[in-house]
Amino acid sequence: MRAETLLLTGATGHLGAAIAREILARPEPPRLRLLLRDERKLATLAAEPEMAALLDCERVVADIRDRPKVEAALLGVDAVIHACHSHEYWCGARHLLEVNVGGARTLAEAVVRQGRVQKVAFIGSYSAHGRRSSTDEMEAARRSSARECSSRSKRLAQEVFLAAAAAGGFRLDIVSPSYLIGPLQIDPTYFGALFHLVLLRPLRWCPPNGINLVDVRDVARAVVDCVAGEQAEGRRVLAAGDNVPLHDLFAAMNREAGFPQTPVRLPDRLFQVLPSLRQFGRFGRHYFRRDHYVEESGLARRYTLEESVRDTLTWARRRPLYRHRGEFLRWLAARYLF
Ligand SMILES: NC(=O)c1ccc[n+]([C@@H]2O[C@H](COP(=O)([O-])OP(=O)(O)OC[C@H]3O[C@@H](n4cnc5c(N)ncnc54)[C@H](OP(=O)(O)O)[C@@H]3O)[C@@H](O)[C@H]2O)c1
Repeated sequence: MRAETLLLTGATGHLGAAIAREILARPEPPRLRLLLRDERKLATLAAEPEMAALLDCERVVADIRDRPKVEAALLGVDAVIHACHSHEYWCGARHLLEVNVGGARTLAEAVVRQGRVQKVAFIGSYSAHGRRSSTDEMEAARRSSARECSSRSKRLAQEVFLAAAAAGGFRLDIVSPSYLIGPLQIDPTYFGALFHLVLLRPLRWCPPNGINLVDVRDVARAVVDCVAGEQAEGRRVLAAGDNVPLHDLFAAMNREAGFPQTPVRLPDRLFQVLPSLRQFGRFGRHYFRRDHYVEESGLARRYTLEESVRDTLTWARRRPLYRHRGEFLRWLAARYLF
């Protein structure tokens, strides 16, 4: 790799951790500086032998909205990977906009002002890929459900980086993955949490549709290839070739967890209530699209779905989150319903 000092934001997140591991495993890795909020999360990750090198990295403990700290984190930096994004739907749309758009602006402005950074890789999303923000997008995002706001804020942050790259003359890659699966997730979303639930009991029911999944390690490799200059500059979508029926996925999760049960498909109409839930709105519809797209370079998948399921469950087994189903339900309700 050629970048001498690389700043990684969101370093203790699911993808951030996988990116850090990928970088540190490459020959002649750059000096890696991690921007993170919580040293304890880093210590948890670094307790894994394959992640121990994280403790040798430079660290800046900061909120992405903290301008002076972000400026300081960028000193001497040649390349940036921006994997920070708030999925804290329970904090509401305003918070998501402040972190995802405000934070992106803080970082992008500092990059332009300092004038040293040569390359930025921005982690986009399948749900935001290729869509331009309209002028009233910010207002629409403020008024939307938190889940919808997360996708809208991604689009807005993308625009911030596109404008900054035009002004600052740095190389910009936007890597837009579909739904992530794989190990190294400390703080799971509702989907990641199912890998913990299935260790307690089989998944008996499943939504009737499919979902587009990619392994977090495949995405990490593609992102690092961009920063290493091993890909042509641009925007790329990283999605699997086809949606995985959730019925097949849940059955594979059950099998891997030691339960022979095949889940029962729930009727479509049950999912019609999701848009009326406060935090979900038009929940995750892109990931469930049947006419999903795979464009540009697509994903050179190294991990099969079976390997991804196996390794996600192995990771969850090492860090069990719930002792019984009640704990899972309380966790779910506190985060997503109230
Ligand atoms: N997960 C998916 O299925 C998926 C799909 C498509 C695209 N993506 C994109 O991939 C990127 C990484 O996602 P992920 O799944 O790795 O999410 P994640 O696990 O929630 O990680 C997000 C990271 O952002 C950090 N962060 C949040 N708010 C912050 C703040 N105010 N200041 C500083 N750091 C903050 C978090 O810090 P803490 O570690 O302290 O919480 C965490 O490290 C995001 O841009 C996301 O939109 C994800």
